[in-house]
Amino acid sequence: MPLSIHILRRHAAFALLAAAASTAVYASEVKDSMKEMARAYKAAMASQTMPEFADSFKKVQDSAKRIAGMQWKENQPLFNEGQQKLQKQLDAVAVQVSANNLAGAKDELAKTDPIKKEYHKKLD
Ligand code: HEM
Repeated sequence: MPLSIHILRRHAAFALLAAAASTAVYASEVKDSMKEMARAYKAAMASQTMPEFADSFKKVQDSAKRIAGMQWKENQPLFNEGQQKLQKQLDAVAVQVSANNLAGAKDELAKTDPIKKEYHKKLD
């Protein structure tokens, strides 16, 4: 086989391998940050005082911001749409935190649940 075709084939194989590896990295990055966000969500919902809630909620926001900048393995526009809806709902939580309303903040945070369910179903 001519040398140029041989090199082309090797390049194609390498490109495929690299694409598969980076897909796996994206997926595990998202999953790790999702787990982190889920832990912070639970802690916020279990909190008894606003300072406690605010502390955990900040971690939810930090995770969400990190995730929003990540690449998903497929359907990036749908992934971004879900993250935008989540961010909008987290903004509503922040309003309640500013108003020092713990019950209101938990109510607004709970409203992220249907967003989560919708996009987990659509993106799985
Ligand atoms: C507060 C809201 C959310 C929580 C607590 C949450 C939590 C989680 C958890 C625990 C996982 C499983 C990680 C693992 O594999 O062990 C996960 C996966 C995932 N989440 Fe979320 N999530 C939320 C919202 C969203 C939203 C809005 C989107 C839309 C972009 C999203 C997209 C994904 C994707 C794509 C995966 C990976 C699914 C797969 O394994 O194929 N999540 N999430």
